[in-house]
Amino acid sequence: MPIKKICCIGAGYVGGPTCSVIALKCPDITVTVVDLSQQRIDQWNSDKLPIYEPGLDDVVRQCRGVNLFFSTDINTAIREADLIFISVNTPTKTFGNGKGRAADLKYVEGAARMIAEVADSSKIVVEKSTVPVRAAESISNILTANTFNKPNVKFQILSNPEFLAEGTAINDLLFADRVLIGGEDSEEGQAAIEELCQVYERWLPRKNILTTNTWSSELSKLAANAFLASRISSINSLSAVCEATGADVSEVARAVGLDSRIGPKFLQASIGFGGSCFQKDILNLVYICEGLNLPEVATYWQQVIDMNEYQKSRFSAKVIESLFNTVTDKRITLLGFAFKKDTGDTRESPAIHVAKTLLDEGAQLSIYDPKVEHSQILDDLTHPYVTDEPEQVKKSITIHSDPYEATAGTHAIVICTEWDEFISYDYERIYEGMMKPAYVFDGRKILDHKNLQKIGFIVQTIGKRLVRNSPNRVWGSKVQA
Ligand code: NAD
Ligand code: UDX
Repeated sequence: MPIKKICCIGAGYVGGPTCSVIALKCPDITVTVVDLSQQRIDQWNSDKLPIYEPGLDDVVRQCRGVNLFFSTDINTAIREADLIFISVNTPTKTFGNGKGRAADLKYVEGAARMIAEVADSSKIVVEKSTVPVRAAESISNILTANTFNKPNVKFQILSNPEFLAEGTAINDLLFADRVLIGGEDSEEGQAAIEELCQVYERWLPRKNILTTNTWSSELSKLAANAFLASRISSINSLSAVCEATGADVSEVARAVGLDSRIGPKFLQASIGFGGSCFQKDILNLVYICEGLNLPEVATYWQQVIDMNEYQKSRFSAKVIESLFNTVTDKRITLLGFAFKKDTGDTRESPAIHVAKTLLDEGAQLSIYDPKVEHSQILDDLTHPYVTDEPEQVKKSITIHSDPYEATAGTHAIVICTEWDEFISYDYERIYEGMMKPAYVFDGRKILDHKNLQKIGFIVQTIGKRLVRNSPNRVWGSKVQA
């Protein structure tokens, strides 16, 4: 029977965009996205969606109230659905066994228990969340053990991990490189896979839909993120070598990436990767390997995280060292707070690491980001992980809505996110308003460094030694023609 009603549990960065695109491409399917958070659902039903994602507003506007619904009535949505996506968060555990590494599956388990309690007909249950290998087995056990008194209710569990990246989610969903569906090798399992294939086939060629066994699908998601992150850690490790030798990491990345076996993507050296997925999923992989008694494999992947920590610390240390080894009471501007451009998400953002280091050293921070909510920045920087003196932090940061105000009177600008708008600012004007010597630390390698030097800035970046400004440039004066 073709799928007519879909319920998605979890209206977050994955559930919202994914189901909006499914609704857009499958007008005959009713898609209901549910969440425990009333506030989140209210935002999905308002003009200001809870997440910023280019193109998302348009899709939601076209489908909402037609075949796309956002609701907190989880029970009704589960009961009516033929297929249920579990798209809840799977953060790293912060306590108990596996603290700091294992994935916390309490939300997945909570979703499975709700399905078991409410379902009165058979369902296909799809793991959309990123989970450890064999999580489908736990979901299946919970569902079966809690429906023994409903003999007519059967479940098929599929793994269908999501590969979208934030900031490009709509495009990634509309033109996915591949969709991965894992399921049981039984007749019922294959039938369930086929039903989900038919949903995606409405807009993706069949050859892009890959079917595997459940465990391969679950592991492939962790593997893909580990591979992607390892490329960033690899190029970041080489950025340190470049700074020490005079090589330029962008030139190295280009030369390496032109080898068709390597390819050019994900070789952008940076202040380190952030986001809710890479670190969490690699830590999870490391934990799984340790549990499987594969310590060498665990150590191998742990190194990707360690290198990322090193890169963030190295960059923050460079800022302090360049500012005469003291930033106490100096005003420093962070441009960008999101973990990457085109999103308002700050989870694991390297900007938090940079801000914490500078605050610990007594700096006064001015922060500007085009999309991150001010309250989010404040929450991140007063979080117990960052400080045990939140009131002091509040006194040390000013959050701005205008980049020119944010840079006025500061000693240094630190680029933490690669927002396009940062490239086109009037840096002459910014320079005039800053303390001298005026520094730019380009943690994303996006600015025109030669031009900045010409204006008078002292510029530092990742993976490249920049020659100091010409001596005839006097601080505070205009460049001589
Ligand atoms: P999120 O935190 O943005 O959203 C999860 C939502 O689930 C929250 O709104 C939460 O309130 C809700 N929730 C939790 N338990 C619930 C329950 N029992 N019933 C109803 N709602 C419940 O998380 P996200 O970024 O969308 O990630 C979801 C999953 O997708 C994670 O496993 C993540 O690893 C994976 N993933 C994320 C991305 C990404 O770019 N963010 C990409 C691929 C995969
Ligand atoms: C990632 C995966 O790309 C996606 O497939 C998965 O579904 C979720 O996790 P996301 O974290 O949203 O997506 O963004 P991504 O584009 O992968 O960037 C992650 C981090 O790496 C960002 O902080 C980004 O700035 C950084 N990055 C990315 C680099 O530092 N250099 C690069 O070359 C690419």
